[in-house]
Amino acid sequence: MAETGVDIAKAVELLTHDELVAIPTETVYGLAGNALSRAAVTKIFSVKNRPQFDPLIVHVPNLEKANDYVLEIPKHARKLAGKFWPGPLTLLLKKKNIIPDLVTSGLDTVGIRCPDHALTRQLLQALPFPLAAPSANPFGYVSPTKPQHVDEQLGSKIKYILDGGPCPIGIESTIVGFEDSKPVVYRLGGLSLEAIEETIGQVKLMTHSTSNPKAPGQLQSHYAPGKKVILGSIEQLLKTHPHGGVLSFQKDYRVTNQIVLSPSGNLEEAAQHLFESLRAFDKIDADVVLTELVPDQGLGRAINDRLRRAAAV
Ligand code: TXA
Ligand code: MG
Repeated sequence: MAETGVDIAKAVELLTHDELVAIPTETVYGLAGNALSRAAVTKIFSVKNRPQFDPLIVHVPNLEKANDYVLEIPKHARKLAGKFWPGPLTLLLKKKNIIPDLVTSGLDTVGIRCPDHALTRQLLQALPFPLAAPSANPFGYVSPTKPQHVDEQLGSKIKYILDGGPCPIGIESTIVGFEDSKPVVYRLGGLSLEAIEETIGQVKLMTHSTSNPKAPGQLQSHYAPGKKVILGSIEQLLKTHPHGGVLSFQKDYRVTNQIVLSPSGNLEEAAQHLFESLRAFDKIDADVVLTELVPDQGLGRAINDRLRRAAAV
């Protein structure tokens, strides 16, 4: 078990000595280390068992600080950051040399994000360096949205978990990059496509990549829990899998092992509960998890993206 608490000074002390600390954000918990230290970044990859070809997101306290780590902030990026930072938006920008190649897996861009969580903002403001932080789960597994989730899987490998309670959004940040200065969404997430397009006009979606993914979050099978997930019509699936657990959006299917994401049909609520629910089935006595898509709008797009990847084998 890792020590868990709200001691910012302790987190600062550990991070300054290249140790890792789990941090709360509005999206999911991150496994944080000094982004400018190769030693700390190497630990992140090894604790997560993450392949080094999968780059890390760098967390900063504000837009001004981002300037220290990137060569330029294009017009559209500035507009998005101005409107949505702090918040669930990661921008892929051309990096300065101060960011180690290890962080970006050798790419010339770095993912930069300013998270919206009081404790973590306080921490970032107290540190003289930015924090590299992937989601605090073993590679390929569902992201953690509560301190207990981090503790269960990585507790023996890290020194401290900064306890910020449950993550209010519950799904990772939306990743936006630029190709010939045209905006491209590489990962759907906590900031809706609609909100982005309202701000900078139409964007290209490139969230699927079978080989050489730009973002391994694009890998078809990712965000998967321990149990097999089957996506389709729950009613039909129950006929062939009568002992399956059910993860539904809104409807009560009247089976024993069932989790309803949002009885009122609210997509924000569904996103908030999604990963915790997928995790819960690992401990429930059901052979498979039967689930269905939610309406493909707002956060529903990101939820559907994660459900499809959880179900991919
Ligand atoms: O909400 C979030 O973004 C959370 C919290 C902790 O901030 N972090 C997170 O990190 O989800 P991670 O490492 O689990 O997912 C980051 C994704 C990966 O799929 C990675 O490949 C992609 O971002 N990524 C990071 N830097 C990139 C870059 N320079 N180019 C392309 N993809 C990048
Ligand atoms: Mg992740």
